[in-house]
Amino acid sequence: MSNIKVKVNGKLIDAQVTGQMHLLDFVRDKLSLTATKEGCAVGECGACTVIMDGNAVCSCLVLAEQCDGAEITTLEGLSNDPMAKKLQNAFVEHGGVQCGFCTPGVLMSTSALLAKHPQPSDEQLMDALEGNICRCTGYQPIIQSIHAALKE
Ligand code: FES
Ligand code: FES
Repeated sequence: MSNIKVKVNGKLIDAQVTGQMHLLDFVRDKLSLTATKEGCAVGECGACTVIMDGNAVCSCLVLAEQCDGAEITTLEGLSNDPMAKKLQNAFVEHGGVQCGFCTPGVLMSTSALLAKHPQPSDEQLMDALEGNICRCTGYQPIIQSIHAALKE
């Protein structure tokens, strides 16, 4: 066990974690932040994407221990973010959500991109989302939803 201090969604958390615990389990099981989803658990689907120190990361690949001193944002942490709100509304309006399993990860990858590039090129958008797999294959509506949110 080791002790970590980590800021999650703006709140400083002091916690004991085991060496095997991943960030995904830390946010879901220890902090009850269940918007972050577990898909493949091996870094291939992007369902578990969170923002760590400004970058979108697969939380299933990051050990909780590695988060000591880091700043983490999960989808819950974007609940008051105006752009995230626009994105969520656009996803609903333009069919970017089907079963919804990939949606939190897609929103986190998009939010991390927009924080750095508020008006991303199509190439930047595709690059940012390349690790997010949509099992419902809703890629076109996802991209259309993001464009619609950006136009607002
Ligand atoms: Fe982490 Fe699939 S659950 S990438
Ligand atoms: Fe179902 Fe993407 S909406 S996995």
